[in-house]
Amino acid sequence: MRLLVCGGAGFIGSNFVRMRVRDHGDEVVVLDKLTYAGRRENLADVEHVFVHAGIEDPGKVAEAVAGCDAIVNFAAETHVDRSIAEPDAFVTTHAQGTYVLLEAARHAEVRYLQVSTDEVYGSIEEGSFTEASPLQPSSPYSATKTGADLLVASYFHTYALETLICRGSNNYGPYQYPEKLIPLMILNALHADPLPVYGDGQQVRNWLHVEDFGRGIGHVLEHGEPGEVYNVGGPDECPNLEVVQRVIALTGASDELIQYVTDRPGHDRRYSLGSEKVRALGWEAQTHFTEGLERTVDWYRDNPAWWEPIRSGDYRAYYERQYGSQLR
Ligand SMILES: NC(=O)c1ccc[n+]([C@@H]2O[C@H](COP(=O)([O-])OP(=O)(O)OC[C@H]3O[C@@H](n4cnc5c(N)ncnc54)[C@H](O)[C@@H]3O)[C@@H](O)[C@H]2O)c1
Repeated sequence: MRLLVCGGAGFIGSNFVRMRVRDHGDEVVVLDKLTYAGRRENLADVEHVFVHAGIEDPGKVAEAVAGCDAIVNFAAETHVDRSIAEPDAFVTTHAQGTYVLLEAARHAEVRYLQVSTDEVYGSIEEGSFTEASPLQPSSPYSATKTGADLLVASYFHTYALETLICRGSNNYGPYQYPEKLIPLMILNALHADPLPVYGDGQQVRNWLHVEDFGRGIGHVLEHGEPGEVYNVGGPDECPNLEVVQRVIALTGASDELIQYVTDRPGHDRRYSLGSEKVRALGWEAQTHFTEGLERTVDWYRDNPAWWEPIRSGDYRAYYERQYGSQLR
């Protein structure tokens, strides 16, 4: 297959592209705006064609899709904290950008897969969300992702475009930008820097190894029923504080590094996805959290050349703004 992968220079997209080229022999065109989260380095070892553009640019998108069999869209603003501080890019990319991609897919008559998130369902105290659960997003990030999902569904109903939606739970693994919980904690622990924990740290997440999500997306792209949504959840749930304690144990850091900081406004308490539907299609998660986290810590420990430029660049200013005044 020849795929147009939008947002393929980010965390999940680059892992997906690497797996498709290596394991399936696909040809891949990556279209990416290279925001702070997108990096050419993430694909340095992978053969691909690269187009530097935003998904909201109809001309560049139309050129890039020519000759492709499908579009897979990872392109997004993905950090909830940033969506609270500066929501505009979230609206542009998720609403306008998704619209431009859908139009391109319609005109090129190709299958379209939207990568979405469990956050569209909001928080759940007990049990797990199914694909039929109501959509109750709580942040500008999840609300604009929800809007994009609804627009995708409308293109199936209105234009019979072959659309698919994959809603993943919290991903972790190599190449994740260190503003997110797991790489933030690993890199701070390796540097003996404070480990900032929001609120009481009892927010529960359903952890999914990035390669399991990538395989799930590829599987749905090939075998999914057009018009359908597929939840792709991780095999294990874990509260954030326990994630931090596990990172401390794996890095040999001191637990005195933990510092509690003011909770994020509207912070969802628990996410949990039921994945029976994608399992029935033949997908199964292969990596449990204990093993996956150990491998992830090893990857960050072994790849300082990947994260050193990030930790010393613009990321520092973000980090200071977010936590600086609260950390000792
Ligand atoms: N990280 C998670 O835990 C998780 C879980 C479930 C679903 N998702 C979804 O998976 C997708 C990828 O997430 P990620 O964690 O890899 O994100 P990321 O922030 O690491 O990467 C996003 C990529 O999109 C690119 N991008 C941003 N705006 C763009 C635009 N307007 N045009 C073109 N490219 C643009 C960035 O440059 C970057 O390469 C997102 O849609 C996200 O909502 C993420």
